[in-house]
Amino acid sequence: SNEGLPSHVNNNNNNNTTTTTTTTSASTLTFEDFDFEPEECAPSTIFLMANSDEERFKDVWTSEYVRMPCSKSNVYRSVTNTRDPVTMESKSETRYLSKWYLINSVLKSNPIDNAEELEAAIKSINPRCDWEFGTLVDFFESEYTETETKEFFSNTLPKIIKLALQLPFLCPKPIPLLLKACDKEIILSQKQIASLLANAMLCTFPRQGSLNANQYNRYPSINFHSLYSSPSSSTKLSKLKCIFHYFARVCEGMPSGNISFHRQVFDEIDFPDWEKSTASLKDLTTFSDGTIEDDGVGMLQVDFANKVIGGGVLGYGCVQEEIRFVINPELLVSRLFTAPLQDNETVIITGAERFSSYTGYGDTFQWSGRFNDITPVDKLGRRMTTIVAMDAIKIKGDPFTQYSPNNVERELNKAFCGFFDRVSLTIPPPIATGNWGCGVFGGDKYLKSILQYMAASQSGRNTTYYSFGDTTFANELTNMVYFLQQNRVTVGEIYKALWDYYKLMVHTKSNLSLFSYLDAHFS
Ligand code: AR6
Repeated sequence: SNEGLPSHVNNNNNNNTTTTTTTTSASTLTFEDFDFEPEECAPSTIFLMANSDEERFKDVWTSEYVRMPCSKSNVYRSVTNTRDPVTMESKSETRYLSKWYLINSVLKSNPIDNAEELEAAIKSINPRCDWEFGTLVDFFESEYTETETKEFFSNTLPKIIKLALQLPFLCPKPIPLLLKACDKEIILSQKQIASLLANAMLCTFPRQGSLNANQYNRYPSINFHSLYSSPSSSTKLSKLKCIFHYFARVCEGMPSGNISFHRQVFDEIDFPDWEKSTASLKDLTTFSDGTIEDDGVGMLQVDFANKVIGGGVLGYGCVQEEIRFVINPELLVSRLFTAPLQDNETVIITGAERFSSYTGYGDTFQWSGRFNDITPVDKLGRRMTTIVAMDAIKIKGDPFTQYSPNNVERELNKAFCGFFDRVSLTIPPPIATGNWGCGVFGGDKYLKSILQYMAASQSGRNTTYYSFGDTTFANELTNMVYFLQQNRVTVGEIYKALWDYYKLMVHTKSNLSLFSYLDAHFS
């Protein structure tokens, strides 16, 4: 029955999808019928993954759905060479065997008591992979005490394995991939995510997406083998500490909420004509202290993303996005189904729980203990934390290119696609952001802050800007916002001023700063 469900929820064979936003209580999230056929990409189709206890695993192995390790199509090739005892002729026989059967037998056969045995088990599941797990071995030698290691192997790991092997029962419905150009939303329970991540931890996932993949069909990696590999680094060890802490927590008491993952796709017509925009400027408050995740409670929190969601989280990366993904590890599951983002796309994730506290940043990042996330839950059972993954341009070569009209438009549109809420009927909460695109991606915070401010104002939202310790910049931005508001400057007027600034700089090669130019232009 679809009683009580939003009308845009895909729960039966009816393809009538609209973008109405009736909400529903968490108790109505189970239902039987579901449409598994690849379908037209209707805007904001929502796929609820909740299942009833008796539901049987629906095995789908296509490039539109997550390829599950428990699918019967997940096979490996086994070649046996035999010699005919009579003719002495040698024969080879090729058979395709069930990978899930192999996974079950490896993980159930003998207890896994240490890092080497865990490494051996993961390698038996992936016999053709040439991996070695120096970081994993190092982890249990240097990061965990003997007692913690014992606890992990005797208590947590058996529970992780159990959770992983329950996958076909916990996730019987095929999980649609969030393909490029398809506006779709998936809602998974925290328990389903725990089971999916348990499989990623044990490296059981086959490759996702289509096999003749171009770059936008290629999926981010999901198995954790790259985190376990050598050379070991303090950031990898600290990230593992966060992730293992998550598993210890969910294995002790499984959280009961839901998390939604919405790939938001805007068409050309959804974007404003920036030059003509008469939108007035909303408020922007700057703080030099604080972070998006600590202080942006209740706001739309920006993830300074890579177009491949999660960026280097399963490798060496350890900046804003990667840190967010390990302190809220449920975000990691987005890598399983999110194709790389195009310029007109963002991912909006609501409900991820934070499990860890941390200190430091980059090379100095460290797990610093458990975090009790007390964020209230909405009617869909989601923690009211919304994170928008939006990737800025990576500046290569001449930094001045970021001021070119094309690049300005690209960033405005990307931010607008992250900030504009075309569904909500109430006033949307403010945005919590900061130096988006201005760290690893090398952007200029004077420009990027103004572009985000324009996109936020165009979306009717206020902004809280965390300048990450830069008090001078915080003051400059506060003064600029005050000045622009006092002069009743509109979004379109700033857009035109940015063009003029670009032209002036190209012609005069002067080193006039953007803020000085805006000051002079609007005085
Ligand atoms: N809250 C507020 N501001 C922060 C925080 C925080 N928690 N953390 C960092 N900053 P960066 P990018 C500030 O480099 O340039 C990842 O690998 C701080 O000033 O993470 O957009 C992604 O996967 C920092 O220098 O974002 C992408 O591949 C600045 O925000 C790539 O990095 C930018 O943080 C994106 O790089």
